[in-house]
Amino acid sequence: MAIVTMDKIVSLCKRRGYIFQSSEIYGKLNACYDYGPLGVELKKNIKEVWWQAMVYEHDNIVGLDAAILMHPRVWEASGHVEGFHDPLVDCKQCKNRFREDEIAPEKLAIKQCPACGTKGSLTDARQFNLMFKTHMGAVEENASVIYLRPETAQGIYVNYKNVMDSSRLKIPFGIAQIGKAFRNEITPGNFIFRTREFEQMEMQFFVKPGADDAYFEEWKQKRIDFYERMGIKKNKLRFHQHGSNELAHYAKAAFDIEYEFPIGWKELEGVHNRTDFDLSRHQEYSGKDLTYFDDESRERFLPYIIETSAGVDRTLLTCLVDAYEEEELEKDTRIVLHLDPKLAPIKAAILPLVNRDGMPDIAMAIYHDTKKYMNTFYDQGGSIGRRYRRQDEAGTPYGITVDSQTLEDGTVTVRDRDTLEQIRISKDMVLNFLKDKLTQ
Ligand code: GAP
Repeated sequence: MAIVTMDKIVSLCKRRGYIFQSSEIYGKLNACYDYGPLGVELKKNIKEVWWQAMVYEHDNIVGLDAAILMHPRVWEASGHVEGFHDPLVDCKQCKNRFREDEIAPEKLAIKQCPACGTKGSLTDARQFNLMFKTHMGAVEENASVIYLRPETAQGIYVNYKNVMDSSRLKIPFGIAQIGKAFRNEITPGNFIFRTREFEQMEMQFFVKPGADDAYFEEWKQKRIDFYERMGIKKNKLRFHQHGSNELAHYAKAAFDIEYEFPIGWKELEGVHNRTDFDLSRHQEYSGKDLTYFDDESRERFLPYIIETSAGVDRTLLTCLVDAYEEEELEKDTRIVLHLDPKLAPIKAAILPLVNRDGMPDIAMAIYHDTKKYMNTFYDQGGSIGRRYRRQDEAGTPYGITVDSQTLEDGTVTVRDRDTLEQIRISKDMVLNFLKDKLTQ
């Protein structure tokens, strides 16, 4: 079987309109990407599936959409101003920058630069804060410095009382949020795997101290099951437990869910037991009482927090990599994305076999009937074989073709992307057929 490389994914993404480099006509903006017509649909579908699994399938989880810009004290309390650093070294020879912890120890010992090989050329490490700074208001002075949030989590912590009181929630309960986050990564790269602007899907689950270990196990399992439900191959998913040297400042325990990308096993999502670290810090820095009063036990305490934190962009990359296949057919190779129909950007392509005998009109009518309910696509350009191949690359699960038999008996061909099987159904049944398939 042909190997899936990142280059093949990048090129398919550009060719089919999934993902483009940001500001390409100006020579690009490094580590920033734009989602094209298909990319934006896939992203939206991923977020919907996540929201469904987290918010709608739990009667004690609600949603939130906090602002990207927050009070600067938030980032002092969270530990980001003081601790969200990567150690940065410069090469005096070739001017490249590296994260110190990504350089092999033997090279670091002789300060040899990984890119140009010059010995003694690396500077000592400097601590580089990953938060993007900007200014609020018209005066660019220190007093007005604020940050673009580096994680969505803090928006949930500072609102937990607002949400709890207004929704009349009792622990255990969760707050879910999807939104943009920004990190001035020193070594971004590998396409959308590590970018400077990205989107997170985070859920913070508030529990009674002592119940945290059990909920941590429950959420680990639910989250890995989620990827399998999305159709991701089971043998490409695994847990990685953080050792004491990897644990973030806030975590008592942390597991990454990893996926085997073309660049190796890498983090896809983090599940963390954050204890009462965040709420106790916000309580201290804000001076506001953030304790919870438990009616049953008549106790007052700061809840512990179990966090599940996934990247939208990384999930999208996982879906593409996992779905990509180069299939050897008799005469040539077919590139196909076996995306789960729920995730596929286009649900069906509606195709007149030829551009005459009224076939385009019938196809267009089917297109208009279905487009109101789902993202279907009409295409009459080029041979039917080429049109099918374009849709295979786009990951479209069904091809609906209007042909000469349609003119006789009102049936159309339905071609299945994965099996290549073709069946005939009445043209009036297309919408119901697709609705059925998409809810399976
Ligand atoms: N609130 C906890 C938190 O932010 P994290 O492990 O730093 O934890 C969680 O990030 C997830 O966000 C990662 O597993 C990854 O999917 C995504 N992520 C983090 N940094 C990213 C970046 N620079 N580019 C793309 N995705 C990123």
